[in-house]
Amino acid sequence: MKQPTHVNRALELTETQGLDVFAAAVIEGFSKPRKTLPCQFLYDARGSALFEQITELPEYYPTRTEIGILREQASEITASIPDDSVLVEFGSGSSIKTELLLKHLPPTVAYVPIDVSPSALSEATHRLESRFPKLTIYPITGSFTDPVELPLSLQQRPRVGFFPGSTIGNWTAEDAVSLLASFRGVLNEHGRLIVGVDLKKDARTLVRAYNDSAGITAAFNLNLLVRINRELGSAIDISNFRHEAIYDPLRGRIEMHLESVVEHTTHISGRKFHFHAGESIHTENSYKYTVAEFQDLARKAGWSTGRVWTDGGAQFSIHELTARPNDPERTSPVEAGKVVQECR
Ligand code: AVJ
Repeated sequence: MKQPTHVNRALELTETQGLDVFAAAVIEGFSKPRKTLPCQFLYDARGSALFEQITELPEYYPTRTEIGILREQASEITASIPDDSVLVEFGSGSSIKTELLLKHLPPTVAYVPIDVSPSALSEATHRLESRFPKLTIYPITGSFTDPVELPLSLQQRPRVGFFPGSTIGNWTAEDAVSLLASFRGVLNEHGRLIVGVDLKKDARTLVRAYNDSAGITAAFNLNLLVRINRELGSAIDISNFRHEAIYDPLRGRIEMHLESVVEHTTHISGRKFHFHAGESIHTENSYKYTVAEFQDLARKAGWSTGRVWTDGGAQFSIHELTARPNDPERTSPVEAGKVVQECR
């Protein structure tokens, strides 16, 4: 099963923003008392290909489970979407999951995919144009964490957002509220949002999903170091590090780390970085929620909760949210303010 392709997206990023953006992020992250790297850099060409392999691993249940829910429930999920809606997808990639919804929507809807990768957008647009010849598509190149404006011709139509993949899990709860509030801003006071959220479950299942027996997730994580060596001309000894995935039940999140197994020093862009034995670089968070926890978070962001679809094993959830009307009497909902940019 193919998953939204991230191939070349990060390449395009470095092409447009310059290597200095990556270098600056690495230097900043490695200079902290607890070393970190922003997870968006996981998705260079090789990282994106490895992520696609991850989505097909037996241990990595989220992708196939979400697609299963979409396949089985698509007619229910789309039932309350008005015929003249604009479907706005935040981080559309290859739009594979979207197709499952579009099959149940009339061609009078318009589709606005937003993605940082022009190549992913044009590929998806061409495929959808041939599969849905009457569908109007307005692709927007950019990060969905930036303010988006719909084309003038669509501005009067009802808006429905789509944010699958549990991408929301890459943000802390606080930042997730800001992000969902910014979507609320884009989708307006009559808007709806369909969002995929991975559910809390036993730690063993969670850890195995991020530490597979074939070592693909390890390769995906370690690829950050491969990328630093290639793009920043450094000579980090990759074998000094090992992949680690832990579940923190208090924070309700999977953390990916690259742990230095030996004490060593390495040079990156003319700077010296020291690693203790056992010291780690924190590379990604993947927050898990209960249905109630996510609903609480959505309400804080100005949404009313609606229907929720899950699989039989209660592994993954798809939420229908509707914009809560602005109530000037009550304390203002979170402003669609600055959203910390995390992964894509
Ligand atoms: C793309 C952020 C949803 O958190 O499950 C998969 C990324 N990292 N395996 C996730 C990921 C390691 C994935 N998201």
